[in-house]
Amino acid sequence: MKVLITGSSGLVGRELTAFLETGGHEVLRLVRGEPRGADEVRWDVERGVHDLAPLEGLDAVVHLAGEAIADRRWSEAQKRRIRDSRVLGTGALVDSLRKLTNGPRVFVSASAIGFYGSRGDEVLTEESGTGDDFLSGLCRDWEAASSPLADAEVRVVHLRFGVILSARGGALAKMLLPFKLGAGGRLGSGDQFMSWIAVDDAVGAVHHALTTDGLSGAVNAVAPNPVTNREYTKTLGKVLGRPTIFPMPAFAARVAFGEMADALLLSSARVRPNALLDSSYRFDWPDLEGALRHVLGRNAQTQARAASTA
Ligand SMILES: NC(=O)c1ccc[n+]([C@@H]2O[C@H](COP(=O)([O-])OP(=O)(O)OC[C@H]3O[C@@H](n4cnc5c(N)ncnc54)[C@H](OP(=O)(O)O)[C@@H]3O)[C@@H](O)[C@H]2O)c1
Repeated sequence: MKVLITGSSGLVGRELTAFLETGGHEVLRLVRGEPRGADEVRWDVERGVHDLAPLEGLDAVVHLAGEAIADRRWSEAQKRRIRDSRVLGTGALVDSLRKLTNGPRVFVSASAIGFYGSRGDEVLTEESGTGDDFLSGLCRDWEAASSPLADAEVRVVHLRFGVILSARGGALAKMLLPFKLGAGGRLGSGDQFMSWIAVDDAVGAVHHALTTDGLSGAVNAVAPNPVTNREYTKTLGKVLGRPTIFPMPAFAARVAFGEMADALLLSSARVRPNALLDSSYRFDWPDLEGALRHVLGRNAQTQARAASTA
């Protein structure tokens, strides 16, 4: 396949690009700066793609780009950047793709389980309704921005990612230092559900979406076994061999992180990946402990390999 990727420098984009190229696919990257080679094409979130010619004959597009959600405190200006980069960016990209004579057949776009809002222990599937906070509205509008492509008979998949686990970026990488120092602990009550996915399965889900003809619309990209924050904390402590006795009360999280605390750390989403399971996706890492040991290089196999090359 000839696949165009936005956000290829990010956590998922880097791993996905390597995975697809290793599999013999041709990857074109849409970049926001000056292109550095024939495999890069320039775009910007307001005007879309500058030169459409290299995009003719694409098989598929994977759209991952967006201002990082949790890198800065949510001022009104930062929320606007988070939103515009996704909603306007998707709209501009979709407009450009619609101008192609020979356009893609598949458009796989990132979305997030933030779509559902905070829902306690309710089991959430792709059929569940949306929430009423900032992230829910963002995900709704982000998904809706690609509807002109679906109307043009392109197969559009919205991967609603849960928390993507990787040692190289995202939420887990941010938590590692305090947990390694023995300063980790549950957040708030610890009862909130966290729906997670190992980065390898996030890439696997994108590949599955690209290659599974019957799949379209919303697809929850989460492992089949979500955990409470209490279980997550205990399991991460166990994998790292560190105590987790310092809980962070909800009020302290709100002081430290502002509005983001309720939206990302204290909110509860118990999400089931029905569409992936029903279309026979096989998770490499369905359980949290195995996933954490894998992404943190702490399973027996990885450790034996490291020991034999030391
Ligand atoms: N990581 C998670 O746990 C998680 C969970 C749910 C949903 N998601 C969503 O899945 C997608 C991929 O996640 P990720 O973790 O790989 O994201 P990431 O590491 O933050 O990468 C996103 C990429 O988007 C581009 N970008 C950054 N700021 C931008 C802006 N202001 N306007 C347009 N593009 C911008 C950058 O790529 P270039 O510099 O190459 O343009 C960046 O590398 C994101 O949209 C994210 O919101 C992620």
